[in-house]
Amino acid sequence: MNKDKEILEKTYKKPGVVWTATEPPKELVELIESGKLKPCKVIDVGCGEGFYSIYLASKGFEVTGIDISEKAIRYAKENAQKHGVNVKFMVLDGMDLLKLKEQFDFVFEWALMHLIMLPQRRKYVEDISRILKKGAKYLSASFNEKDSHLGKPCQRLRIVPPGSKMPAGTKLYFSSLEELKELFKPHFKIIEAKIITMPVGRPHIGNYLCMEKT
Ligand SMILES: C[S@@+](CC[C@H](N)C(=O)[O-])C[C@H]1O[C@@H](n2cnc3c(N)ncnc32)[C@H](O)[C@@H]1O
Repeated sequence: MNKDKEILEKTYKKPGVVWTATEPPKELVELIESGKLKPCKVIDVGCGEGFYSIYLASKGFEVTGIDISEKAIRYAKENAQKHGVNVKFMVLDGMDLLKLKEQFDFVFEWALMHLIMLPQRRKYVEDISRILKKGAKYLSASFNEKDSHLGKPCQRLRIVPPGSKMPAGTKLYFSSLEELKELFKPHFKIIEAKIITMPVGRPHIGNYLCMEKT
């Protein structure tokens, strides 16, 4: 097993991990309630215990939820069953998206980008664009460099120290909004980019980008 996956499996030893929230992010709710985002075929990348996928399914979306952690996907399947909704949950590394061999109208990616290190990001974003139909939407939210979690503001690479709620050694890379715009620009038109508060365990300064495939 690769080291990062091993660390994540340890985090998911029991359900209800530090970052899991059962209520969907208000930004996603707003997109749906305002009618800007209509029910369609969506993939939730890094879906964790599946609650946002479940919310999307309850709103009429056809949902695939993927996560690298086998335990997270096991909990997500149990949660979907409890909520009586149909979601296709599967164990898949976000770096292997092309294995899916299907295309989507919307990618929802909440709190995953900061776990993808710089050398992998270009390929990851290119693969995201390949699994999307033309004109499809992509919502990406991740920790901003100004957040002080596990380091000093403006420190990009952060490593979880021993004694934290997350396993020691977990690597995170916090980005600026401008840096992410540059990353997405080759494949996506930015519809909205802003700094938000991301409640992930506790409030974090986050980057929010809503985009459309060009
Ligand atoms: C901070 S959690 C966020 C989970 C969920 N989106 C949420 O907001 O509750 C990040 C998730 O991404 C998953 N993950 C990390 N690296 C991944 C990868 N390369 N491919 C797929 N999932 C990954 C983790 O297992 C974890 O469930």
